[in-house]
Amino acid sequence: MKLMDEIAGSVAVLHSRKNAVTASVDQMSFYDPVYIGNLLILKASVNYVGNTSMEIGVRIEARDLRTGNVAHTGSSYLTFVALDESGKPTQIAKLIPKTLAEKRRYAEGKARREHRLSGTAKYKRNA
Ligand SMILES: CC(C)(COP(=O)(O)OP(=O)(O)OC[C@H]1O[C@@H](n2cnc3c(N)ncnc32)[C@H](O)[C@@H]1OP(=O)(O)O)[C@@H](O)C(=O)NCCC(=O)NCCS
Repeated sequence: MKLMDEIAGSVAVLHSRKNAVTASVDQMSFYDPVYIGNLLILKASVNYVGNTSMEIGVRIEARDLRTGNVAHTGSSYLTFVALDESGKPTQIAKLIPKTLAEKRRYAEGKARREHRLSGTAKYKRNA
């Protein structure tokens, strides 16, 4: 999970070109175990961008170096918020999805954001 946060943070900074902090991490499921000696492969993408926040999707795979088999061990979605020099959320570049996969991720990311911000998934401490 630490690696997920690190790779997602790197991708968030690369997209926004600003400092970015983790605002939330969605539910995480573990599909397969990771064994000692496995090579962990983390893949991350910016799925959706709001005004100051970005949803980063991270997929974790574990490769068995003896067999070469790769298992999808887990995935999650993290929201990062870009900050200005005074530590306040700041506007970032929009995401323009081009490929079919990017468009699908964008639409799904938008729906997840709406769910996060909806009445049933309030994220504010005292909301
Ligand atoms: C994340 C943080 C910067 C948001 O500050 P805020 O004053 O609540 O910001 P706002 O209400 O103006 O919201 C700014 C954006 O963050 C999003 N956001 C805020 N909290 C969120 C949360 N918990 N989950 C998802 N998105 C969140 C808002 O939807 C908004 O997105 P948008 O601009 O794209 O529409 C602030 O809560 C913070 O600094 N938290 C601590 C972060 C941290 O220390 N992370 C490291 C943890 S180890």
